[in-house]
Amino acid sequence: MKITIVGAGAVGASCAEYIAIKNFVSEVVLLDIKENYAEGKAMDLMQTASLNNFDTKISGCTRDYAKTAGSQVAVITSGVPRKPGMQREELIEINAGIVKDVANNLITHSPNVIIIIVSNPMDTMTYLTHKVTSIPSNRIIGMGGALDSARFKYRLSEALSCPSSDVSGMVIGGHSDKGMVPLTRLATRNGIRVTDYLSKDILDAVKHQTKIGGATLTSMLGTSAWYAPGAAVSALVHSIVCDQHKMFPCSVMLSGEYGLEDLTIGVPVILGKNGIEKIIELNLDGDEKNSLIQSAEGVKKTNNILSEMGLF
Ligand code: LAC
Repeated sequence: MKITIVGAGAVGASCAEYIAIKNFVSEVVLLDIKENYAEGKAMDLMQTASLNNFDTKISGCTRDYAKTAGSQVAVITSGVPRKPGMQREELIEINAGIVKDVANNLITHSPNVIIIIVSNPMDTMTYLTHKVTSIPSNRIIGMGGALDSARFKYRLSEALSCPSSDVSGMVIGGHSDKGMVPLTRLATRNGIRVTDYLSKDILDAVKHQTKIGGATLTSMLGTSAWYAPGAAVSALVHSIVCDQHKMFPCSVMLSGEYGLEDLTIGVPVILGKNGIEKIIELNLDGDEKNSLIQSAEGVKKTNNILSEMGLF
């Protein structure tokens, strides 16, 4: 069982580390364009194997896609991360060409691969992958909602003064500061709605902190975050590789679900050995529906830049 991670930067290396520590795949290949960089990260990680008790073999390579052949899942983290004060959408010009190239190289060597997109603007990079490759929709998954939901649960756990593991909740919509739709109405602590415990003002603050979760860290770190993105990717990969059928909000191609089509945006899906096994249609209330539609407008606007760039 081989997993490829393209981009051995902080997010890519963190994905590799979490996947290895969970010990459910035999091989992780890290690929980067920077000479010897992925090889170095792989060697460093392999030197943790005896300490962290994992058997996953991590190797690195420079631009050598032949080494990725036969991957079941590939994660694209390539491109540039945002700097403090930037919106994810501003990265489109640089990242779109890179993601197109990477996706096609991966498919050449692993025709059955399931692709997880992390590069930003993530929803639009996922849409681009649909447009420039010919693989079926169930094999193209954008990672954003799983990360945003983890940040939402963190903020809820702070507000409730309880561990995050007590909290359940999801963020749907686009992976952008304005586009995220944290579903406070449906969030629970051990099955009890959080709206029974927290006031509207507190829940509004939780929503706001969730939406600017990535931007907050970018301003603190000088670049975008990597631990939670890496952990979120590893959870998606785990559900696919072990056919767990877990539910995560992911950016997926919609064909009429939620009244939306020809658009990739975050909605809950079931992930198993075929990638997206099912798209779940939630019964949203009026405000949630409006927020999702507004979010979709934002994603479409960013997607339009792709056609202007002549990428497909
Ligand atoms: C973030 C990046 C990965 O939200 O989009 O941290």
